[in-house]
Amino acid sequence: MSTSVPRPPAHAALVVRSLPTASAEERQRILEDVEYNVFAFPAGLLTCDFLSDSGTSAMTDVQWAALMRGDESYGRNWGYYCLLDAFRDIFERGNDRHHIIERVLAGKTDVEFYQTKLLMSSQGGFVNGGRYQLERPNFFILPQGRCAETLLFSTMSSMIGEGYGSHSEHGKPTMIISNGFFDTTGANAAVAGFQLQTFMQPGLTDPFPQQLIGKTNNFKGNLDLAATEAYLNENPGKISMILVTITNNWAAAQPVSMANIRGAAALAKRNSIPLFLDACRFAENAYFIQRYENGYGDKSIVDIVQEMFSYAEGFTISLKKDGLANMGGVLCFRDQGLFAQRYKGIGMLLKERQILCYGNDSYGGMSGRDLMAASAGLYQVTDKAYLCNRITQVQTFAQKLQANGIAVISPPGGHAVYLDMEHFFFGCNRKLEEFASVGFTLELIKKYGIRAAEAGPFGWAYDLKSPEERARIPNLVRFAVSRHVYSGEHIDYTVAAITDLYDRRHTVPNAIITRGKHMKLRHFSAGLKLVPVDQTITDTFFGEASRQIGHLSTAVGEDAAAREELTKALALATGQWGQRVVPKQVDTAGWVSSVSNDGSPIEYSVSIDQVTGKAELRFLTEAQPNKNSWKDLEEAALRLNRDIVARYPVSMKRFNIIKDLFIPENPSLLSHQNTKLAAWHSCAWSSNKGPQWKIYLDPSATGKDNALSTTREAFRRLGLDKGWHLVEGILGLDDHVIYFSLDLAADAVEARVKVYIAHGGADATSRSLVAEVARKHGSICPDSDGFEIQRFFAAMAGSDFGREDSLGSRRKSLISCFAFSGKTGERPVGTVHFPVDAYVQNDAEVKRRVESYLVGVRASAAARERYVTVLAAAQRRPLNQGRGIHAWVSLKQRAEGRRENTFYLCPEMLGLWDAL
Ligand SMILES: Cc1ncc(COP(=O)(O)O)c(C=O)c1O
Repeated sequence: MSTSVPRPPAHAALVVRSLPTASAEERQRILEDVEYNVFAFPAGLLTCDFLSDSGTSAMTDVQWAALMRGDESYGRNWGYYCLLDAFRDIFERGNDRHHIIERVLAGKTDVEFYQTKLLMSSQGGFVNGGRYQLERPNFFILPQGRCAETLLFSTMSSMIGEGYGSHSEHGKPTMIISNGFFDTTGANAAVAGFQLQTFMQPGLTDPFPQQLIGKTNNFKGNLDLAATEAYLNENPGKISMILVTITNNWAAAQPVSMANIRGAAALAKRNSIPLFLDACRFAENAYFIQRYENGYGDKSIVDIVQEMFSYAEGFTISLKKDGLANMGGVLCFRDQGLFAQRYKGIGMLLKERQILCYGNDSYGGMSGRDLMAASAGLYQVTDKAYLCNRITQVQTFAQKLQANGIAVISPPGGHAVYLDMEHFFFGCNRKLEEFASVGFTLELIKKYGIRAAEAGPFGWAYDLKSPEERARIPNLVRFAVSRHVYSGEHIDYTVAAITDLYDRRHTVPNAIITRGKHMKLRHFSAGLKLVPVDQTITDTFFGEASRQIGHLSTAVGEDAAAREELTKALALATGQWGQRVVPKQVDTAGWVSSVSNDGSPIEYSVSIDQVTGKAELRFLTEAQPNKNSWKDLEEAALRLNRDIVARYPVSMKRFNIIKDLFIPENPSLLSHQNTKLAAWHSCAWSSNKGPQWKIYLDPSATGKDNALSTTREAFRRLGLDKGWHLVEGILGLDDHVIYFSLDLAADAVEARVKVYIAHGGADATSRSLVAEVARKHGSICPDSDGFEIQRFFAAMAGSDFGREDSLGSRRKSLISCFAFSGKTGERPVGTVHFPVDAYVQNDAEVKRRVESYLVGVRASAAARERYVTVLAAAQRRPLNQGRGIHAWVSLKQRAEGRRENTFYLCPEMLGLWDAL
């Protein structure tokens, strides 16, 4: 089959339901009516409902046919026999299925059929038949899964009270170990007096390579066997059960491998503990095993299910999941097995309680037609084509989100996609107790009629927990996908809606609880209110900058120690002015810094290696004067020099040699109308070198006309005449020296001298100018590739590229930087800078250009992801709301074709650039 043709679809819709057409305003009114409780929102007003996959399946035509053959007789309706035999077929018989349901559906159930098939005696498995089911009942029909749990745990508990169970239980329920308890499962066990111990294989939220999704799977739902074994050794005789949940709903619907089930069974056996399965999604789990586990690729789903259950002493199951039914549950255990021996006579007790609470054993609270639908569903759910379609739909949903930059728990699990809300709100400064993820789910309902469930700080009552408990609370939103209900169109709609909210995540409101904060399982009933996010900055320059630097250092992959070092350097660089509260807007009567787009005296930049994705974070500051005067500006700059010298192993030797050229002793030499700066300082952080300081000076300090001679003299004094000669040789009439900078590193070989040239005259999008700049670099920089420079500029200019006209004063010039050091010799390393903010409508457009450039130059996935994360860390508003977060983007070309891009990011403390 051609690879461009997808797999054939697995089913077609024969019955359709129209969806509502409520508007966002109408849904908003309904949200008010239901106190902003997601669970209380009427399903009939939703377009897509991802609240749960439980009982929400669309049944197949075969199930509907079976439902029509439902028998509502009280005692021993034929649905009872069908369900019992379906369980034998699915969970025990492997390929030797009897399919008695087919005869029942066909209405061919004569006496002989009853005697030879339906009433046949069987024993020793999960479903005793004939008189054995009467003598030693081991199969219990119930309305749903949690009823099976209540029945099981409460009955075990009362038997333990009477001395049954393990020897050291001493009349009290002890411990149940699991890879993950579903909430009702855990609650039912706890109510019955059991203690719970969850040993989930570590690493659920660890990143998983996107390109491996659909190819490999690391079975993140596994029980941590080592931890379980250690615990068993330390607590002999104190464990009543090992319960393995397949798939692991608690752990983001992740599958459990056969090896893990086998291992759990071996551990259980060695310790004489019964192993039970919470088997709600057994078929989905089997599909993962077939697809991804070594040695199971050639086995059928039927065989795999048979093997999985061969290891179990018993199981509970909600037929609302992998029964494809809308109702139903079952508890069963192995006849005469370990569990049955431990709790002798438990079958009869269970049956008494079943009858007391749910009804006669032949229906256990289920209608005859539901028994028939579930029996048919169990066969259909183990069909490989169905499972492939089902799991692939969930996988595709997750992959489409990832492609839009939205992080999900990965690889995707079986029945749901889990959004990683830590990542979603990264950089947005939301506290966990502000319940932003609930705000997200409410916004999704209101705007798009899509319902999902928060599984994070609100649901897990973060605000009521101890610090240790808080640390274990995940921050997720779950999109559970109903079986057979949604098409690719629904998924695409949902992905687009989530992406829209992600793009404007900074404006997604928080939520507060107005009623029911202390209720158990409060997410079902509490009242809430939305709280709009106030974006006003109330912090100081340092406070705000250290917050942004914190996020950026996380984004570049630095650890806490590095973050602390950078924050210390930032505190030094921002000194006294850093303690001023950020004003609402720029005070134009005071000194307005040119460091950043919006007048903030700080700018961040991150360089990213196109191949390795390794990044370096820096900040650039201007020491702010107390008064708006040159003297104060100069004083502030020199004071910072002294502070840096006092704290860091830098050298001012080279600065002192050239200082008078840029900061003349005699102020009358200054050209005040051109003054842009006395000195700027930057600090870069790299893990091997620590903080590296640099100073920027203004060659036009004594007049624009002197810029060239000032720079020439500075190079001469630093012994770099030859280098300068090269640069001067390429300067045209429209090229102006605009900055001169020095590394303050003590190591003279490492320390660089840099000169920055603005290429004026034409618009930065001019094709001829770009070609000219590329040629100039090629003529003096040994590692420069002109094609790469042109490709970079063209990508940054976007559709404007090729414009030859200048569009007025707002347009900015291209800049080149040439760096000399003891390492480079006489010929410089060249960097080209594109003033991207001047050539776009908004930052979303810059992001698109950068991303397509990075794809075009075959930058690694790591580099591309790094850029996206860095941008997310810096932005404080939706990207399409304006321009200026990206000020400059540069390309540096090093030896052996190594290329780095640097992104100069505006903190936007003082508002949007265009507002300036
Ligand atoms: C793993 C697991 N166990 C048990 C249950 C409880 O089943 P029910 O909802 O039918 O009571 C669920 C329901 O979602 C589940 O996911």
